[in-house]
Amino acid sequence: MANDGLNTRGNWGSKLAFIFAASGSAIGLGSIWRFPIMVGLNGGAVFVFAYLLAVILIGFPLMLTELTIGRHTQKNPVGAFKALRPGTPWKLVGYTGVVTGICILSYYSVIAGWSVGYLYKTLIGAFRGEMTWARSDQIFSSFTSNPLQVLICFLLVIILTTYVISKGVKGGIERWSKILMPMLFILIIIMAIRALTLKGAGPGVSFYLKPDFSKINPKLFFYAVGQAFFSLSLGMGTMITYGSYISKDDNLSSSAGWVCFSTTLVALLAGIIIFPTLFATPGINPQDFQANTGLMFQVFPLIISKLPGGYIFGLLFFILLLVAALTSTISLLEVPTAFLIDEHNWKREKAAAVIGTAAFLLGIPSALSSGASPFLTRIDLMMKMDLVFGNIMLAVGGLFITIFVAYVWGIPQALKEISHGNRSFKIKPLWIFSVKILAPLAIIAILIFTIILA
Ligand code: PHE
Repeated sequence: MANDGLNTRGNWGSKLAFIFAASGSAIGLGSIWRFPIMVGLNGGAVFVFAYLLAVILIGFPLMLTELTIGRHTQKNPVGAFKALRPGTPWKLVGYTGVVTGICILSYYSVIAGWSVGYLYKTLIGAFRGEMTWARSDQIFSSFTSNPLQVLICFLLVIILTTYVISKGVKGGIERWSKILMPMLFILIIIMAIRALTLKGAGPGVSFYLKPDFSKINPKLFFYAVGQAFFSLSLGMGTMITYGSYISKDDNLSSSAGWVCFSTTLVALLAGIIIFPTLFATPGINPQDFQANTGLMFQVFPLIISKLPGGYIFGLLFFILLLVAALTSTISLLEVPTAFLIDEHNWKREKAAAVIGTAAFLLGIPSALSSGASPFLTRIDLMMKMDLVFGNIMLAVGGLFITIFVAYVWGIPQALKEISHGNRSFKIKPLWIFSVKILAPLAIIAILIFTIILA
């Protein structure tokens, strides 16, 4: 018994380290910036409902699947498919993941750059005094339409991310994020409570939590599955890469469960902050929060200004938001970097620098598409990039990963890997059903419907 106790503690140590690292990748702008945009775009609570279904029925099983491939092969996504089915085109799934990672990194870092800009603005007191919607909106658009400011902030994020990856100081970042992520969580809870107690918060709460099921349609599920994949870092091999560092004693399904749970909780709380605050703020039209990329940046200063000690609180919040975003950009850069190191024998510094530069160049048009360039703004380039890479490519990646495990590598092989550190695997039937039938069919149906409907 004493031994068991020791073992359990020992295992917990490493399992916790993994949960923090993977949650660091998952929790970020996807939950705090992107989720509320999707809720606004897709009719409120009914989207929240579809998102929760997508997380439980497809996201969680896919996360377990990716972790299983990763732990079994101990490789990056390309190497993993090569190892499991050498000489077949399956490695293309890995390559697609690598390319998708670079493309997501390109525009994701632009938004992370906005957090840098907002941190600076908070520092110089730009949000002091009474915050109204008009003022907040004005601060946001004058910032994003200034090309120099936006590009400098974007570059800063790329440099920081590249530095961390090239020096291999990820361990340090993970140690820090163990303290900082729980702090972010506490700040978010405080803001959520403040938002719920605003006068006039009621309609926002209903919009966000009372589903109108007559609004259900295939597009909604397309966005819900895309959002589940994006926020959980699935479909491009991030979790294959992270899974390759997990010990054989760890329970993969409970680790995956914790990561899904914490990420979803942050997303739900972000919505609890945004919608009640929006509805309680005078001068807002529903168009203001439909497909509005600036939503989070316009709303958070409003609620922060309503908190005692708003200045310090705001500083702390934007620092923590930046840390959350950086732990995600790091994971986005790690996939292509690990690929170049393992498969092409590149040096870590060179791989990180080349991909970081590529992501920066690729991201410039996105950076200019929120006001700085009229043409790029009109075609809404950043949201187009997000649609293609954040929704479609992640879904396609997820589709092939499930098909691969269900019909090529084989469920029994995967189950054998899962059984290390997890003898009972209680949700086995759900996992098998999802990987074999539900996830592939749902993703195919959603992709066909949206392509036809688009
Ligand atoms: N999950 C991250 C977020 O929500 C973004 C991400 C997507 C990271 C895909 C890695 C892979 O912020």
